[in-house]
Amino acid sequence: MEQQTAYLEAHKDRFLAELFDLLRIPSVSAKSEHAPDVHRTAEFIRAKLAEAGADNAELCPTAGYPIVYAEKIIDPKLPTVLVYGHYDVQPPEPLELWHTPPFEPTVRDGKIYARGACDDKGQMYMHLKAFELMMQTNTLPCNVKFMIEGEEEIGSNNLEIFVKNNQAKLAADVILISDTGMIANDVPSIDIGLRGMSYLEVEVTGPNRDLHSGAYGGAVANPINILCEMIASLKDANNRITIPGFYDDVVEVSAEERALMAQTPFDEEAYKADLNIGAVHGEAGYTTLERTGIRPTLDVNGIWGGYIGEGAKTVLPSKAYAKISMRLVPNQQSDKITALFQQHFTSIAPPSVKVEVRPHHGGEPAITPTDTIAFQAASRAMEDTFGKKPIPTRGGGSIPIVALFEKELGLKTVLFGFGLDSDAIHSPNEHYGLFNYYKGIETIPLFFKHFAELSAK
Ligand code: BES
Ligand code: MN
Ligand code: MN
Repeated sequence: MEQQTAYLEAHKDRFLAELFDLLRIPSVSAKSEHAPDVHRTAEFIRAKLAEAGADNAELCPTAGYPIVYAEKIIDPKLPTVLVYGHYDVQPPEPLELWHTPPFEPTVRDGKIYARGACDDKGQMYMHLKAFELMMQTNTLPCNVKFMIEGEEEIGSNNLEIFVKNNQAKLAADVILISDTGMIANDVPSIDIGLRGMSYLEVEVTGPNRDLHSGAYGGAVANPINILCEMIASLKDANNRITIPGFYDDVVEVSAEERALMAQTPFDEEAYKADLNIGAVHGEAGYTTLERTGIRPTLDVNGIWGGYIGEGAKTVLPSKAYAKISMRLVPNQQSDKITALFQQHFTSIAPPSVKVEVRPHHGGEPAITPTDTIAFQAASRAMEDTFGKKPIPTRGGGSIPIVALFEKELGLKTVLFGFGLDSDAIHSPNEHYGLFNYYKGIETIPLFFKHFAELSAK
């Protein structure tokens, strides 16, 4: 323990400098112009794993970006932890809202500002440095494998086949992921649920060309107006989704569990103040934490069409588009929900327009168990370093691979997240606290220690 603390203290600055090098590479998986950067990031991670003492550090090619794999097997009889993370990041736009450029990491007020600082480069890199620390202090108590992918932010489409084809290579006892958050720096928590996802794009076509909005306006359907009406009709007055069958498979959470959730510390006034909103908004009959944690939802992520340049142009556009995501909860299935949406959205289109629905990607929801050795280990590790037992929470985000790991490898996950909701992931000025980065590096080895000890019992 003391040895580990001393090592962290002695190498703090380098640990930060290395993360900065990683954050400088714009590994935006969504944009093809960044393909060389994404590949460069994979190689960076591979090299750092090898340097830290991992064996067989390699880039595993996929139909998309490579998966970085590495391992340290100290004794095949000991348990194995499979660490998963992602080295790709979300696009940084809108650039003008960043106070400092997204790929020039800077520390302000004790926080690292950069795209990926928290999601997931900062959190993933904690594992590499925790591993280095255990190697250098001779305290790695069990086997470890790393699987760091580069397509998480675009749906992990090539991961399923990789996992299917590499069952033996990926054999482990638990999956450990730092890609979620906790309640606050003095209120540790562990997510025990993730929502699933169904993401699609819709295209509404009116007339065969853009028209003069005076010559034709009033007589020809405007696809933007129609799209807005169609989208508005997807929720009723109680903010329930109106797609027939949408809620059929939703597991209603028990009154006991809801009562437990209600005890989670949450300050709605502070939440509203932080977002500068006058009121929260969502499905009637549920609290804010329930709305994000245990209820499905539907959101427009982007909508466009017509003239959006400077000044005015009178036009009745030919086309309108929207990107729509639905967050899913246990037992909903993403393919089924996508099909229900497609069927419903097409059926509500008036004859004056044509509608096309194009599915993008999906992912299944997941619940991670609390009655396992691994969860115990995570809980004890956090208790060691935070001085408080972490609270189990339901996260609103999605990490599709978690359900996949369970299906393909039969493995449970521990969501060992050290981010905060306020870290602005996916937003301008994403950041990650130095406190959180170092706390993670300090806490991860304790997870390994407790996991190995509890497994030996
Ligand atoms: N790290 C996030 C997921 C997350 C964020 C979980 C906050 C819990 C709390 C991950 O990188 C992510 O953004 N996932 C995508 C899903 C994917 C299919 C594009 C998401 O949730 O939108
Ligand atoms: Mn992430
Ligand atoms: Mn993300």
